[in-house]
Amino acid sequence: MNKILLMIFLLVNTVLGEATLPEYSQDKHMGVATCSSGVCHGQSAESTKDNVRMNEYRTWLAEDDHARAYKTLLKPASKRMARKLGLPSAHTAKICLDCHADNVPKEKRGKRFQISDGVSCEACHGGSERWLSDHKEEGATHATNMKIGLYPSEKPRDRAKLCLSCHLGTKDKFATHRIMGAGHPRLSFELESYTQNQPAHYAIDADYEKRKGSIRSVNMWLTGLIYKASSQMELLQSNQFRQHGLFPELAFYECQSCHRAMSPSRWPIEPLSNNVATGTVRLDDATMVILTSVLDAIGNANSSELKKAIKQLHKSSTKNKELVVKSAKSMKVILDKIAKSLIETKYSAAQKKLMRKQLLSDGAKNKFRDYTSAEQIIYAVDTLSIDLKDEQRYVKQIDKLYETLDYEDKYYPDQFKVVCNLFLKVLNK
Ligand code: HEC
Ligand code: HEC
Ligand code: HEC
Ligand code: HEC
Repeated sequence: MNKILLMIFLLVNTVLGEATLPEYSQDKHMGVATCSSGVCHGQSAESTKDNVRMNEYRTWLAEDDHARAYKTLLKPASKRMARKLGLPSAHTAKICLDCHADNVPKEKRGKRFQISDGVSCEACHGGSERWLSDHKEEGATHATNMKIGLYPSEKPRDRAKLCLSCHLGTKDKFATHRIMGAGHPRLSFELESYTQNQPAHYAIDADYEKRKGSIRSVNMWLTGLIYKASSQMELLQSNQFRQHGLFPELAFYECQSCHRAMSPSRWPIEPLSNNVATGTVRLDDATMVILTSVLDAIGNANSSELKKAIKQLHKSSTKNKELVVKSAKSMKVILDKIAKSLIETKYSAAQKKLMRKQLLSDGAKNKFRDYTSAEQIIYAVDTLSIDLKDEQRYVKQIDKLYETLDYEDKYYPDQFKVVCNLFLKVLNK
């Protein structure tokens, strides 16, 4: 980006109250070595006198896949991918480094910055040029730190934007079908589950809540769902979808539309895309279809509008790219409206139970036939059960749900349907 454009972009973002992603911030990234000393975040055991753990570096280094993201690019699998893509090597290619490391431009790298640190502290917490020395001073608070460039990763929307920038992609970096065709795994993401799966280097205790507030996991999940759908709609309007030749970018489609066995019994038609003909390659609508179930469960009036928009999006996808862009734009407006009515709400246990039941009964009715929808439902049911504190009671049913996902190429919608039905029976007991 040119400098003046970047300044305008940062200014507009500040005015809208939206944080600038660490990769675009104006600050230099000083490097993991500046965080990891034994008196800072590299202590060998959890601190008893500080309000943060102080051994964050150890957790990240020993347990967190993000610390290994660069090394992944040196593995045979990545070498093979680079060869197929005609890249000199994966660990020097911008397209790989943009997600597998903190690939800020050279002029934004401090003296101790090392690209081989992978997805490092500052890739999530922001370049520390201005806060590195100040944030440990007496009187520094989370609010003062954020003013000098610390990224607000505790805020659901900003966290969603951060994680999705690599776990879904942006208009500037994207795992295209060409990259997947070379062997890259499909990207899957659900904010609350991925938050839980990242080995925690922090604790949400009373002190944390006092400093940063606490977010219920059901709200984190809904924020992630809506924000992922919104980002998909933005990407459909960007060159990532539009710039291709004969075929549009296939990574936006339901992978199983093409990658599955040829047996008609596996092709139940999903009600929200039954307005396009059999044999059509369908756009991936999982995040939005699931939202319709959530809205139905709590009697939210936006459901019918969202359902109409999903059908419109599918219809457009059988015509031309311009219509897809138009539908994606209208969908985004609806999603923004839904965000306003869903994200901040405090849900009762009864409402969460209704959501879980609705998801499972829609699953049992074949409303979600694709692998990606099933995957999102399972994350959702798991998250809701953890939030409701009854996941131990249903651990067998939840395991059975996850088992349906074991073999992506051999996913059977009918098996998923059966497992949803069994779960419902146990719930209704
Ligand atoms: C700069 C890019 C980037 C950002 C930002 C990012 N990730 Fe990742 N994440 C990756 C990459 C790349 C991997 C795979 C690492 C590997 O194995 O090589 C990964 C892996 C993971 C995994 C392990 C996945 C698995 O299958 O076990 C989890 C969980 C995860 N990320 C959660 C998050 C969360 C939560 C956030 C936001 C707070 C986040 N990530 C932000 C790039 C990123
Ligand atoms: C849009 C971001 C993005 C881009 C671009 C990207 N990756 Fe990834 N990659 C990820 C994420 C996120 C994961 C982890 C997926 C998960 O487990 O959910 C991953 C996983 C992988 C894995 C599997 C890791 C493992 O341990 O199983 C390999 C190998 C890989 N990437 C190599 C590459 C190479 C080579 C390139 C460049 C050609 C590349 N990636 C480009 C985000 C990206
Ligand atoms: C993939 C993203 C990611 C990476 C990489 C990462 N963090 Fe975090 N970190 C988070 C998230 C998410 C939280 C929890 C939300 C918050 O409090 O901001 C967090 C919280 C923290 C906290 C605050 C704890 C509290 O009680 O307020 C510290 C300190 C921290 N991280 C340090 C580090 C250090 C040091 C590294 C590198 C060794 C690192 N983080 C790497 C995502 C990341
Ligand atoms: C419109 C149909 C279509 C869709 C949708 C589609 N693919 Fe593909 N895929 C193909 C074709 C065609 C090939 C190329 C086979 C070849 O090169 O001979 C391919 C190749 C691949 C390969 C390499 C397989 C191999 O044997 O080398 C992977 C991995 C892959 N796709 C993953 C995905 C993922 C993940 C998605 C969803 C995000 C997806 N595909 C969506 C048609 C599709």
